[in-house]
Amino acid sequence: MEFIKVNKAYVKHIALIQLNRPKELNALNLQLMGEIRDNLKELDQDDEVRVIIITGDERAFAAGADIKQMAGKSTIDMWKVDQFSTWDQINKTRKPIIAAVSGFALGGGCELAMTCDMIVASETAQFGQPEIKIGVMPGAGGTQRLTKALGKAKAMELVLTGKFISAEEAYDYGLVNKVVPTEVYLKETVALASEIAAMSPIAVQMAKEAVKRSFEVPLEEGLHFERKNFYMLFSSEDQKEGMNAFVEKRKPDFKGR
Ligand code: HXC
Repeated sequence: MEFIKVNKAYVKHIALIQLNRPKELNALNLQLMGEIRDNLKELDQDDEVRVIIITGDERAFAAGADIKQMAGKSTIDMWKVDQFSTWDQINKTRKPIIAAVSGFALGGGCELAMTCDMIVASETAQFGQPEIKIGVMPGAGGTQRLTKALGKAKAMELVLTGKFISAEEAYDYGLVNKVVPTEVYLKETVALASEIAAMSPIAVQMAKEAVKRSFEVPLEEGLHFERKNFYMLFSSEDQKEGMNAFVEKRKPDFKGR
């Protein structure tokens, strides 16, 4: 791996993917995105891993897709590369992914953070979709996910002017889960990840799947899907463990079975 660092056991049950192109503000070139995709796929299959954190560095989560790599491309070049199949694959990850964001999360960087399931932001984080300033528009979900998170008026403003919003503003709009001091943004993300990692990983993944489904389908279909997953969990050992532990007044020990 050239552009990311991966630690499968950063903390017990928690894997860390760190974008590692600091000089280019972690600009997302095709190889970097491919490395994220391949590693997420592997981590998704690894029973020891229950939650995945994606982070950058203090200055930038990611300042967008690599403009230098795209600048000279034609429509057919872009179509052949088919970079969005990589993003689709990332979006299929079953385990929860938390973005730990400090500094710039712009363009594809903002879209990558929004593709994750939750975002913990440092006070210095800035979010935006500045593609309009370079003559294009968001392409990896920005117009859809930002609009769902912020509502039409604010999303339209960001997408059409390219202006950034601060971590605080992002929090007020519900784009991020919490804003914390820069010195502790990764630590706070690990704390959130640890809470989730203590739950049944099967229940967590089925619950994630159901929440995500709410963005895709009408309510009735979503409720049906939720119910099916709820019933399915009753064939897991973790369901017996969780409910027995409650009755016996002890902490559950979930095994992911
Ligand atoms: C390639 C980038 C880059 C990017 C920064 N760099 N962003 N290289 N692609 N998206 C490089 C700069 O060229 C520079 O390298 C180095 O990183 C430091 O950046 P500076 O501009 O010198 O830093 P600063 O003055 O602090 O400004 C930070 C910034 C600015 C405001 C974030 O870099 C910026 O506006 N970047 C572009 C943001 C953007 O438009 N993102 C959307 C991209 S399109 P050198 O070697 O020159 O010093 C997109 C489409 C997504 O994301 C859809 C498909 C996935």
